[in-house]
Amino acid sequence: MTKHKSYKIGVIGGAGYVGLVTSVGLASIGHNVLSQDLNLNRINLLKNGKSEVYEEGLENILSDLITQKLINFTHNIEQTISHSDVIFVAVGTPSLADGRADMSQIISVAEKLRDLIDHHTIVVVKSTVPVGAIEIIQDILSERLTIGEDFDVVSNPEFLREGSGLVDFYNPSRIIIGSNTDFARKSLKEIYQPLIQRDYKVSNPFSIKNQIIEILLTDPVSAQMIKYASNAFLATRISYINEIAGISEKVGGNISDIIYGIGLDPRIGSDYLKPGIGFGGPCLDKDLRALITLSEENYFDSVMLNGVLRRNDLQLQEVINKINFVLGSSLYKHKISILGLAFKEGTNDVRHSLSIRLAKFLIEQGAIVTGHDILAAKEAAEMEDKLIVSDNLNDVLNQAEIIIILNSEKIYSQIDWSIISPKTYIIDTRGIVNIDELKKYSIEYDILGTK
Ligand code: UDX
Repeated sequence: MTKHKSYKIGVIGGAGYVGLVTSVGLASIGHNVLSQDLNLNRINLLKNGKSEVYEEGLENILSDLITQKLINFTHNIEQTISHSDVIFVAVGTPSLADGRADMSQIISVAEKLRDLIDHHTIVVVKSTVPVGAIEIIQDILSERLTIGEDFDVVSNPEFLREGSGLVDFYNPSRIIIGSNTDFARKSLKEIYQPLIQRDYKVSNPFSIKNQIIEILLTDPVSAQMIKYASNAFLATRISYINEIAGISEKVGGNISDIIYGIGLDPRIGSDYLKPGIGFGGPCLDKDLRALITLSEENYFDSVMLNGVLRRNDLQLQEVINKINFVLGSSLYKHKISILGLAFKEGTNDVRHSLSIRLAKFLIEQGAIVTGHDILAAKEAAEMEDKLIVSDNLNDVLNQAEIIIILNSEKIYSQIDWSIISPKTYIIDTRGIVNIDELKKYSIEYDILGTK
């Protein structure tokens, strides 16, 4: 392995999803990382190699890095700033009621940096911040410091998917560096050099894929637009296929065949075209709303993006309509089981989970709702106390008049339907059940997008 330059890196917001994956990723490619977060509980767990955020393989790598003293965790922002030549900012930017991103955490970090930086520091913004926010950060720091001499600011958006965040860190589709200064660009390129040269060692299951990593140097505004436009495009694909699924269902088509068929055109492809309850999670909805607000603020009517959002809001209602079709308009005391509580499979994150939103709605209508998730049972129970939660699939299956499959977790495609009462009705929003098996046991079903 070539000897790469090792940087002293601080990560602010290091116990959140993006901050943690970034901290662990950067330490494992040879940098010395001090990861800071205000969440003391999470920090104390992380110091002992334990993570509240579930990510496959993360705890193993974390333990190795702690033993090698390549990573450390702290509550102390002063210590983090004085330790670091480069600070990655990964604090949250949640949606405000009007769709704009809440900048309060970013502003408070910028004020700390302004007051505490005592040697040249590159501030790398990982959080998805509104276009223009890099200038705000620069302005705040410039109240005491001089740009170029004391600090540089870079936009370096992440494209990590929850559940495969470390795989994405090691095998990025691209690295975007948005900066106006050569020094910051050169430093960021050096930081990512082990990734670009595919020259680092990491334990299983993160094999190094043989791929060329494209690195794009651009200005900060374009870097931020790349992030927003990517997430908006992904959201568009989902709303698009959900709309096609709706039409297909009405006219008697089969959505799996349709996706396969359209995906054979290499310009379209069939990745990221799974219909379902809509896109949830902390990013797509938030970033789409922020982009729509940005266009409105600039007197531009984003007709299409508004449509993407509208389809997503309607999608939950489509599933509710299916439930009402089977049980009638009153759901009072009806027993409904939902499979998949996290916002998607492979994660324990229930933030902005449409499954939880559906559960809340059904409970408000008087239904008795039981939910299953292999990773997120505890988190779902904490979020919705009237939801009966179990990680025992058979318990959840046996109690229901309707079973609704919301996430495409593999075990849901392998359910043994022989143990279910034939009176149970199945709604599969992900198209993963074995229809022949359901037919064998005379179980009635509805597959979203398929007549
Ligand atoms: C997303 C982007 O993929 C990632 O690049 C970005 O950095 C953060 O936002 P994530 O939110 O982790 O990642 O999840 P993703 O796998 O993209 O799924 C988002 C939502 O869309 C989930 O609710 C998922 O169930 C849904 N989805 C995804 C579909 O309904 N169909 C699909 O084909 C794909």
